[in-house]
Amino acid sequence: MKKKIALIVIAGGMFILFQSNLPDPELISQIPEEVGTLLESTCYDCHTTGAKSEDALKAVNFNEWEGYRVSKKVAVLGDICKVLEKGKMPPEKYLKSHPDKQFTDAQKKLICDWTKEASDKLLGAN
Ligand code: HEC
Repeated sequence: MKKKIALIVIAGGMFILFQSNLPDPELISQIPEEVGTLLESTCYDCHTTGAKSEDALKAVNFNEWEGYRVSKKVAVLGDICKVLEKGKMPPEKYLKSHPDKQFTDAQKKLICDWTKEASDKLLGAN
């Protein structure tokens, strides 16, 4: 009997230890509001269900974000920061007709900081 209890205690302890090392899924699945608002103002035009470009949706569909595997999320997060820093997104053609939708450097930084933080969390690095 004592043996059984000891085993349960050990198993329980290990469970708690293991759990606390896992990144919080709630935390990482949510895009923070200020980042979401920026993405929504521009990127969602082409990267949400119903947008015209199949290529854009294949690259990123924010409506399907929650369902992406961790590896896909991490890859897309990296790409989001890259396309912003390079000025590849939003596309030049789009900015010509929506000149007000260009992000400022501060806004790009906010998004990039989030992509890095979110990747780290997804990978359990902090
Ligand atoms: C006018 C439509 C349009 C808008 C607005 C737009 N995209 Fe895109 N995006 C595309 C298309 C089309 C592709 C796929 C073809 C390509 O890669 O150029 C794409 C591809 C991408 C890719 C993957 C391609 C790569 O080079 O890694 C990322 C990441 C991306 N977009 C992020 C964004 C972000 C972030 C924003 C907002 C700042 C944004 N997009 C705004 C149309 C758009």
